[in-house]
Amino acid sequence: MTQLLIPRERQPGEARVAATPETVQRLAAKGLSFHVEAGAGLASGFSDADYASAGAAISEPGNGLWSEVDGLLCVQTPPAALLERLRSGALVAGMLSPYRALELVELLNRRQVSALALELLPRISRAQTMDVLSSQANIAGYKAVLLAAAALDRYVPMLMTAAGTIQPARALILGAGVAGLQALATARRLGAVVTVSDVRPAAREQVESLGGRFLAPPEQESAPGEQGGYAQAASEAFLAAQREQLAEQLAVADMVICTAQVPGRPAPRLISEAMLDRMRPGSVLVDLAVAQGGNSAATVPGETVLRKGVILIGADALPSSVPHHASALYARNLAALLEHLLGLAGESGGGDGEGRTLGLDLEDPIVAGCLFTHAGSCLRPDLVGVAETPVGARS
Ligand code: NAI
Repeated sequence: MTQLLIPRERQPGEARVAATPETVQRLAAKGLSFHVEAGAGLASGFSDADYASAGAAISEPGNGLWSEVDGLLCVQTPPAALLERLRSGALVAGMLSPYRALELVELLNRRQVSALALELLPRISRAQTMDVLSSQANIAGYKAVLLAAAALDRYVPMLMTAAGTIQPARALILGAGVAGLQALATARRLGAVVTVSDVRPAAREQVESLGGRFLAPPEQESAPGEQGGYAQAASEAFLAAQREQLAEQLAVADMVICTAQVPGRPAPRLISEAMLDRMRPGSVLVDLAVAQGGNSAATVPGETVLRKGVILIGADALPSSVPHHASALYARNLAALLEHLLGLAGESGGGDGEGRTLGLDLEDPIVAGCLFTHAGSCLRPDLVGVAETPVGARS
């Protein structure tokens, strides 16, 4: 029977967990067996007793299990010293930050570990239930607006009181992907008047259907194209035109939520120091792209900075600040992926002869999309900038 380990997350500040009692029970019914490190779910509201009732064995963190299990489900990449213990052929699935992850690739290849980087799951209908980027971005967009509203020096909704009428807050959202659309919906629920900017013309309909005003990209020959639903990186000339367009909006905004990103690239710099100078003291900016360099100047990852009266929040870990539901959704995404792999193993007759029941069929588009290392090779060298090594070339 395939034995999977659910570790306690080791990255500072990470409160999520990769499996919940619900998903343990769901996958145990399909023949997988779970070891959960003691306390792994505590920060997200799942006790050891809940996991034990769901059928998991509870183990002391860091005991010998790392070298014994067939696989590991994690949220973020575990420390190298623990990954080193995994046995050859083991599977790791999690948000492994594959872009430019040279050292990680070297380690996984040396240990012959098969790694599924969930950030690379293809955005196709069949993979929607597995889409961790969407489930976590949704939470980030929601929480960003709550943070902005809590820090704001005024009400968000329009209010008619005996003491007079309060005008609704004006929100500006940069980027209309999953996080931006959830930020729009949340700001609208609170009563804000919302403007949203995106470079993908297709975003207009989604923004308008949620009650936002769409700010169309500047008309420029150098407008960035779109590939697979994602915006491509914009040229500096285009970004300059965009900054000019956004400067007016920023000057009247009460809250600004920055979510514009281009996968694997630095975030587009849409707000300069000069534009921040024009913002109203007391207004709030939340930069969700801060870990990728930020949409705004002067934002700092994990910090709140007061700059000339404007509150700048460098929000780099918002899903982890809603750990119960972030874990619940993440774990369901992973469970859907594992069920898919179990189905593939069934189709191919049961795996590699060593009792593996999770099928890693390289012809399958979902596996091909996110299988990042396998049998000593990096399968996505384009992302990490390493040369592909033939299977078995490393010992
Ligand atoms: P993301 O996190 O990579 O980027 C966020 C947004 O920033 C995107 O909408 C992008 O167009 C925008 N952006 C990039 N450069 C910009 C600039 N210079 N100015 C303003 N905005 C800029 O995107 P996310 O949330 O991962 O979604 C990407 C796409 O994938 C969207 O089209 C989304 O609807 C689609 N999607 C499809 C799914 C599926 O079919 N299963 C699931 C989830 C998302």
